[in-house]
Amino acid sequence: MDKMTVEKLLSFKKEGRKIATITAYDAPFAKIMEAGGVDLILIGDSVGMAVHGRADTLTVTMEEMILHGRSVAAAVSKPFVAIDMPYMSFQTTKELAAENAAKLVRETGVQAVKLEGGVSAALAIRAIVESGIPVIGHVGLQPQSVRELGGYKTQGTTPESASAILEDAKAVENAGAFMVVLEAIPSELGKRITEELSIPTIGIGAGPHCDGQILVMHDMLGLTDGRKPKFVKPFADLRQNAIDAVKKYAGEVRAGTYPDEEHSYHSK
Ligand code: KIV
Repeated sequence: MDKMTVEKLLSFKKEGRKIATITAYDAPFAKIMEAGGVDLILIGDSVGMAVHGRADTLTVTMEEMILHGRSVAAAVSKPFVAIDMPYMSFQTTKELAAENAAKLVRETGVQAVKLEGGVSAALAIRAIVESGIPVIGHVGLQPQSVRELGGYKTQGTTPESASAILEDAKAVENAGAFMVVLEAIPSELGKRITEELSIPTIGIGAGPHCDGQILVMHDMLGLTDGRKPKFVKPFADLRQNAIDAVKKYAGEVRAGTYPDEEHSYHSK
């Protein structure tokens, strides 16, 4: 399989082929995602919570995104690789947005940037697209707005808020984005946006009708401890597997059975 491109991802929507998308933040897990055959890897600013243990994504910096982005982009050759624009790297002016998008692409080697926002992000999206960088939009629940929203709540549950999210998705498409993430909205709204847009929709808690799905890697692999959103389905229990392995290792070290002959060097 050749490197995934924007054109191929757009053709998947026309063909009705679902797009399998996941986050990753470092080289070993990016390679696992590639071996598992995903179409697109996102270096999400969810790195702040999933990897760095913070309460939200607002403190994630450009430097941190660049560090993680570089590891992922260098590790894989087939999946499309996109990176999140962190909080306040694109919101103030379209010039700053284009400058920071270029910095992320130049310093990591990713193929596209993703940024949160609908109507309010349209100018930034257009400026980045006009500078030659493909953009993925992100509407519905926008984690960078968690303080205004008062928590990670399902969005678009009233007719008025559903219309506003549909308008956001259309604004993202009209501004030139080639794909849009729909987060934490009712399935019916996910279906409507998917039908009305010509660019692929990628759902996370947006129901089964989206053109593709994304999950945070740690949630999908069962590495996340504690409460998870309703839409999260762990496809493995790596946390328990890892705890079992650590217990076995510590037990063998304490019993003196590791290292054994097989795992020891000898002088000639
Ligand atoms: O930050 C992130 O990982 C994301 C995806 C889960 C959509 O925005």
